[in-house]
Amino acid sequence: MKVYNANILFTKERSHFEVLENGYVAVDADGRVTGVASDLASLGADASERQNEPDDGTEIIDFGDRLLIPAMNDLHVHAAQYRNQGIAMDLELLPWLQNYTFPEETKYADTVYAERMYRRFVHDLWRAGTMRTCTFASIHTESTRILMRLFQEAGMGALVGKVGMNRNCPENLSESVEEMVQGYESLIEEFNGPDALVRPIITPRFIPSCTPEMLRACGELAAKYQLHVQSHLSENKDEIAQVKILEPDSTCYGDAYDRYGLFGQTPTVMAHCVFTEQEEMELMKRRGVMVAHCPTSNLNVTTGIAPIRQFLDKGLRVGFGSDISGGHSLSIFQMMIYAIQMSKLHYQRDHARSFLTLSETFWMATKSAGSFFGQVGSFEPGYEFDALVIDDHELNHDNYSLLERLERFIYLGDDRQIAHRFCRGKEIPEPSIFCIFAE
Ligand code: GUN
Ligand code: FE
Repeated sequence: MKVYNANILFTKERSHFEVLENGYVAVDADGRVTGVASDLASLGADASERQNEPDDGTEIIDFGDRLLIPAMNDLHVHAAQYRNQGIAMDLELLPWLQNYTFPEETKYADTVYAERMYRRFVHDLWRAGTMRTCTFASIHTESTRILMRLFQEAGMGALVGKVGMNRNCPENLSESVEEMVQGYESLIEEFNGPDALVRPIITPRFIPSCTPEMLRACGELAAKYQLHVQSHLSENKDEIAQVKILEPDSTCYGDAYDRYGLFGQTPTVMAHCVFTEQEEMELMKRRGVMVAHCPTSNLNVTTGIAPIRQFLDKGLRVGFGSDISGGHSLSIFQMMIYAIQMSKLHYQRDHARSFLTLSETFWMATKSAGSFFGQVGSFEPGYEFDALVIDDHELNHDNYSLLERLERFIYLGDDRQIAHRFCRGKEIPEPSIFCIFAE
């Protein structure tokens, strides 16, 4: 067993932080939290008794005055758009996809290019303090396999989607339904098991990119292999109009996915939900469909302000997605700030909806988003120990409270203050960017 000693902050509930000055978290050999307390004695007889028995393997790791917080989770990002990060922001969604995004993703037919880019991607997630990622790759099975091996090599958790698409896209970024199914099955064979840290996730790009046959096959794969599902939902008005034409019987965009078994039949996350209205919200609530809120992407691709306060009031599950390259930042801490600021713009127009608070957005980024990966995102007993150690002494020039120190790190800090990263109880060293897999 390991016991970590530091200033501990986390959110059991979204309304407030738990703050333990000079506290302790005990973690067992499986990487799960067994106790969290302000003093060693209260950790439970187990831990305190063992402390005096140096030979039983209990190790106390002292992080001194540093902050210990749950690691970040990214619920929506496109690994195969990493080269486009921070460029090509002059078009709205549908022309943006055709002109910038699809041409970039075709390059992942080349596994050498894929390994080079994907190594930078995994490395930079590590740098940002994101230990669990739910990501789109591209249609290409072998490049997707490389990305999954890179997450495994790094020891970081990931749900990785080979992208399903076969209409309204370039011919060299399209696959037959049979090829898609075969590709998935070969990935499922290599990366299976419900406890695996890296797993495939069924990923139809969005309704406009997939024929009914492809959507049906995606739903069948999810059911057969009990895999999670991810896609895009109600992001842009032109997209929604296109879905109405393509799926005329559907009562809302979410219902179109639902008809193919892609809306909560297995754990499902949908990115954006900017224009989600009452019926879609009800369906998401009933099905436990999670929202990946991507505030920077919504600003850059000029979609709009997602009704996050309404989602939270309704009890919907919400986390954050960086959505590179619609979004420009991989930092989930930045997503928290943008989400708060966007909600304040919303609030100025409609005072009935209060703006988001720091504890709410921290909870969304940790415990709420983490629930998509299992028991992840908190320091309560039973949770997997995914954590960051924050050394904020350069930002800490005065007598700030622990909560103020965390707030200053979120607003002013960056990866330079992240001193240690843990995923499922293991410390995660810096991943290598030197290519070895592809030839
Ligand atoms: N909808 C379908 N594909 C994409 C994508 O790659 N990015 C975003 N933001 N929306 C999408
Ligand atoms: Fe996206």
